[in-house]
This record gives sequence, C-alpha cells and structure tokens, in this order.
Amino acid sequence: MARLAVNVDHVATVREARGIDVPDPVLAAGLAELAGADGIICHLREDRRHIDDRDLRLLRDTVKTKLNMEMAAVDEMVEIALTVKPHVVTLVPEKREELTTEGGLNVTAQPDYYRGVVERLKNGGIPVSFFIDPDPEQVQTAQQCGGDIVEIHTGHYSEAGSESEAIVRFEKIKRAVESASGLDLRISAGHGLNYANIKPFGALPQIEEYSIGHSIVARAVLVGFERAVREMIQLVNNF
Ligand code: PXP
Repeated sequence: MARLAVNVDHVATVREARGIDVPDPVLAAGLAELAGADGIICHLREDRRHIDDRDLRLLRDTVKTKLNMEMAAVDEMVEIALTVKPHVVTLVPEKREELTTEGGLNVTAQPDYYRGVVERLKNGGIPVSFFIDPDPEQVQTAQQCGGDIVEIHTGHYSEAGSESEAIVRFEKIKRAVESASGLDLRISAGHGLNYANIKPFGALPQIEEYSIGHSIVARAVLVGFERAVREMIQLVNNF
C-alpha cells in the first residue's frame, strides 16, 4: 500500500489571489491529516508566491504526520530548513518565471554542489529527497550525493498528448523506479498526478509515496462548492 502526501501550496495560491488570510493552508493540512493523509508537503519558493515563512513555521508546529519542505538548493532555503527542521526536505529546481516546477533537478550537472547541500541538511538531522526526471543516471547521482529518497517527476507522463505517448513516458518512469530500487533509496513520485492518470501506478509497488497537490485542491473546490453556496443561501434567506 502506497502512502499519500498532500501538497497544500495551492490553498495558499487562492489566499494570495486576494492577499488576505483565507483559505489557510495550515488548516487545509490539518483537514488532509484528518482525512488520512500520510504527510503534508509545501514548497517555500524564493518569491513566496504561495507558501510563506509563517505557513512553514506553523505547519512544522502543527503537522502530526510528516512535513516535507520542497525548496531550491540555495543558501537561503538551507538556512531556513536548518532552523525550521521539517521532517524531510525535497530539493527541486526553481525558476522565477515558471508556473510550477517544470523539470527535475539536474543532479548530474553539479554533483559536488548537491553533495555539499545534502551534507549540510543531513548534519542538521534532515533526510533529503531529490526531485529528478525519470532518468537512471540522475537516480544514481542522487544516491551518490547522499540522497535518501528520489522523487520521480511524473509531470511529463501526466502531460502526454496521447495514450501511446503516456505509455512510453510511463515506461521511462518504470525503468527509473527499477534502477532506484536496486540502490539504497526510497522512492516517491509526483507532479501532475490526478484521479485518472494515477491508475497505472498500481503496477509500481516500489513507489512508497505519492506527492499530490493541484488535482486535490482543484477537486476540493468543486466537491465543496455546492455546500458553500447552500450555506450562504441559508444566511441571505434568513435576513
Ligand atoms: N512534487 C514536486 C517536487 C512538486 O514541485 C510538485 C508541485 O509543487 C508536486 C510534487 C505536486 O504536483 P501537483 O501539484 O501537480 O500534484
């Protein structure tokens, strides 16, 4: 049985659209845990476009399962992680202009740099996950850099334009998962997974955990919409 870790970034995105204090990703995290989520994930971006420092601190104080902090492998974030001490850190690439994380981290391009970042985090007692493309070379380098976990990027699979393309991209994920399970690494996967495209992953029991955000927040808006409208009708009808 695989685990589900829920990414609450886009609850904060809705909040930031108004610049006020609701909806609160910290409350959403508590509700996700009440629903049975095995972990909570948030991405503290350099530009703080959704999750901010207050969210991260409160999530660390209130999450009862496991808080996974996604972050760029830069000094500012390493310092914050070493202070806040999430249960795990996921290193991701980050570009200011992107809408969401676009590709996996290119660990093989700078292995010495990433080894140094992992060492600092692990000296602070924080296990490290590398978010990488489904590429056996990246998997191997992530392990050589001291990574404990590899999160296989499923975004290209989820964006496939046809079923045959999805099959080809899924096979790539499968090969990366197989190469990771031959090494001393835990395996997770995420990005772009939704209620339909997750089904083939039943064939990959080596994946211990799924990191899912946008599709859950998108569904929550719709499944909760009717109740939210009824509650407001109740109020205005009772004037
Ligand atoms: N994993 C990583 C490393 C991510 O950056 C994201 C997006 O924040 C996710 C998983 C979740 O992706 P999605 O929101 O598409 O479910």
